[in-house]
Amino acid sequence: MENTNTSFYLFLILLSIFLNFVLTQPAPENSLITQLPGFNGTLPSKHYAGYVTVEKNYGRNLYYYFVTSEGGNSSKDPVVLWLNGGPGCSSFDGFVYEHGPFNFEKPKTRGTLPKLQLNPYSWSKVSNIIYLDSPAGAGFSYSKNDSGYSTGDFQTASDTHTFLLEWFKLYPEFLSNPLFISGESFAGVYIPTLAHEIVKGIEAGVNPVLNFKGYMIGNGVTDRNFDGNALVPFAHGMGLIPDQLFEDATKECKGELYGRHRENIKCRSLLIRVDLAVGRLNIYDILEPCYHSPDTLVNATNVPHSFRKLGETVKPLPIRKRMFGRAWPLGGPVEDGIVPSWRQLSEGRAVLCTDDEVATAWLNNDAVRKAIHTVDKSVVKEWDLCSDTLIYDHDAGSMIEYHRNLTSKGYRALIFRSISKLLVVYLISSSLCKNLYYFIPIIYDDSNCSSYVT
Ligand SMILES: *[C@@H]1O[C@H](CO)[C@@H](O)[C@H](O)[C@H]1NC(C)=O
Ligand SMILES: *[C@@H]1O[C@H](CO)[C@@H](O)[C@H](O)[C@H]1NC(C)=O
Ligand SMILES: *[C@@H]1O[C@H](CO)[C@@H](O)[C@H](O)[C@H]1NC(C)=O
Ligand SMILES: *[C@@H]1O[C@H](CO)[C@@H](O)[C@H](O)[C@H]1NC(C)=O
Ligand SMILES: *[C@@H]1O[C@H](CO)[C@@H](O)[C@H](O)[C@H]1NC(C)=O
Ligand SMILES: *[C@@H]1O[C@H](CO)[C@@H](O)[C@H](O)[C@H]1NC(C)=O
Repeated sequence: MENTNTSFYLFLILLSIFLNFVLTQPAPENSLITQLPGFNGTLPSKHYAGYVTVEKNYGRNLYYYFVTSEGGNSSKDPVVLWLNGGPGCSSFDGFVYEHGPFNFEKPKTRGTLPKLQLNPYSWSKVSNIIYLDSPAGAGFSYSKNDSGYSTGDFQTASDTHTFLLEWFKLYPEFLSNPLFISGESFAGVYIPTLAHEIVKGIEAGVNPVLNFKGYMIGNGVTDRNFDGNALVPFAHGMGLIPDQLFEDATKECKGELYGRHRENIKCRSLLIRVDLAVGRLNIYDILEPCYHSPDTLVNATNVPHSFRKLGETVKPLPIRKRMFGRAWPLGGPVEDGIVPSWRQLSEGRAVLCTDDEVATAWLNNDAVRKAIHTVDKSVVKEWDLCSDTLIYDHDAGSMIEYHRNLTSKGYRALIFRSISKLLVVYLISSSLCKNLYYFIPIIYDDSNCSSYVT
């Protein structure tokens, strides 16, 4: 008896050593990034990059770039998944222009390699960040069969969930870190739908068990009515349209201050007046002028009138404006069915208000692509800030119920907006907040659901 027990315990010890070894096998060495063209120095933390196959039928492969935390607490710091919007935009937008480990210095000669300097405000100072190109067709992610580029909200959430499960099998040492998912703009749809998949997986006991804690969304798309109805009050509140126009539109359009209103001519003409009033502003930041490249498109007939001379300014400021994504002309972003990209609308020419030059130059450089482990150019020919290879179906609808369900289960949510963005405006955050009965405002001030100015 004694003997059996001893050998049983010995067996358990050996098993746990074995499991420990298997489970804590470190990150894949062939994904480690050893040097980066344009950066002269030692990387402040480990960087990894590579692909994860998320779907075998069409061969959908998602590309990630993983930056471990720089503070020396990488094994404890949260793992944060970052997603840019679109749909179809690459998360290198966040990496290059927003909160990545480097600042990219624009080279004097157009198209040559930018210089990389360390970014003192990088999110990787305090967290382990996965920049993921999702869905397949965005950035360096691809599908072997072109049919894999037909996707939608549900498929994207399911693929990204698979990505996380497979990714943590490759990096098991991060499985116990708190997991957050974050992003902006159209990621306002990616994130709640992905969180829903994650939680469903946790509740069903799917392995590995993700240590999911919550999510964060900046300037996110949320709901057709909330997003659509927020624009006119925003324009009014910002003093961009007169009181009378605001009052008339509110009265005539009967609670639907967006869309075409084919039947209601009075409402339609008032909304056209609103469009004209704000039409020359930079929708991504009403306080900034627009970037115009030398070969700027201003006359494309498919682009809505109010956008053709977007943000034209006499000030010669070299402003970079890079977000664009899909074409939601001053209205409800979450439309059913397929929404074209700006590039498709503008007949493939340059898109207004965007300057993605440093990112495009760096990410299409052969040495950079080799260093960051992207597939061959025969598979993904060119990196684009936002791609138009996707056929994307908005099949999940409103995000409000997702937020309500997730927050009521105790997952943490942070939803923030810039007060000067016209495209997906901030007012919806406060009306959204009022409609989320379980929403616990963390950073909102004590008037409860009012805006928080940074
Ligand atoms: C890289 O850094 C080293 C040491 O600081 C310096 O000598 C060298 O000139 C730098 N090279 C470039 C291309 O900036
Ligand atoms: C590591 O985390 C601990 C506890 O969260 C914190 O006190 C410490 O300052 C962190 N260390 C560094 C180097 O950031
Ligand atoms: C791609 O998928 C379509 C639809 O399932 C299929 O008909 C086609 O044969 C596939 N093509 C290749 C090259 O596998
Ligand atoms: C756009 O149209 C205007 C007036 O028709 C013309 O003067 C201008 O050159 C056009 N711009 C471009 C970029 O085609
Ligand atoms: C939210 O929760 C309710 C009640 O459990 C459920 O019926 C509904 O399908 C959920 N909706 C979403 C979008 O998760
Ligand atoms: C938020 O508003 C609700 C309802 O008006 C109120 O009951 C609650 O006390 C408020 N919370 C804070 C933190 O002010």
